[in-house]
Amino acid sequence: MARTSLPRIEIAPSVLPADFARLGDEMAALEAAGCDRIQWDVMDGQFVPNITFGPDVIAAARSHTSLPFEAHLMTLTPEVLAGRYVEAGCSRLIVHAESVTHLHGTLALVQSLGATAGVALNPATPALAVSHVLDLVDLVLVMTVNPGFGGQDYLAAMEPKVAEVRRMVSGTTIDVEVDGGISPATVAGVAAAGANILVAGSALYRHPGGLAAAVSELRATAEEAFPRP
Ligand code: DX5
Repeated sequence: MARTSLPRIEIAPSVLPADFARLGDEMAALEAAGCDRIQWDVMDGQFVPNITFGPDVIAAARSHTSLPFEAHLMTLTPEVLAGRYVEAGCSRLIVHAESVTHLHGTLALVQSLGATAGVALNPATPALAVSHVLDLVDLVLVMTVNPGFGGQDYLAAMEPKVAEVRRMVSGTTIDVEVDGGISPATVAGVAAAGANILVAGSALYRHPGGLAAAVSELRATAEEAFPRP
């Protein structure tokens, strides 16, 4: 589908810094702060050295917000639990290009489950790794840290790859998402390179003005920097 207007800047909080004992309240707080969607960092202790959210945890949080959920699957077997994450209320599943042997088939499986598919690239993986699956996805995620933990330093060296992905999807409605070290200090670089969906964790939860101030500062800085034709 051809895009007729500029991509919308969206803020997608990572739930990793949230208070897991109060996930329902945290969902409502993120919605009230003006976030556009929620990103669940799903980690299996194999693809990355950390373990986080199973489908039941996400399902428990589902009724506490009307915001769309996406699951960022940092797992070695995304195809095994894909159906469970869709049942839990995730309308988009993001699969890492490095996590499966059959990326095309796995993305088609996600679509067959009634969700939309996204594809993610670790820092070392070239943009060309996804050039033959763009017809199956509505989002390409360029990691700006090595996945596994929040609070890491932003990798500015990823900005040329963000720009390359933006060129690869130009004319389509595919969104370009970035994740890792995104903050008011780093967001202008990735937005100027063409990223329109911004995942942020620590920068939202540690902002001195609170969640709403963090969301509006990130959005305003990105809108200012995003390239116009
Ligand atoms: C890391 C995750 C990120 C991370 C972002 O593997 O995919 O979503 O939680 O956290 P910050 O914004 O603190 O880097």
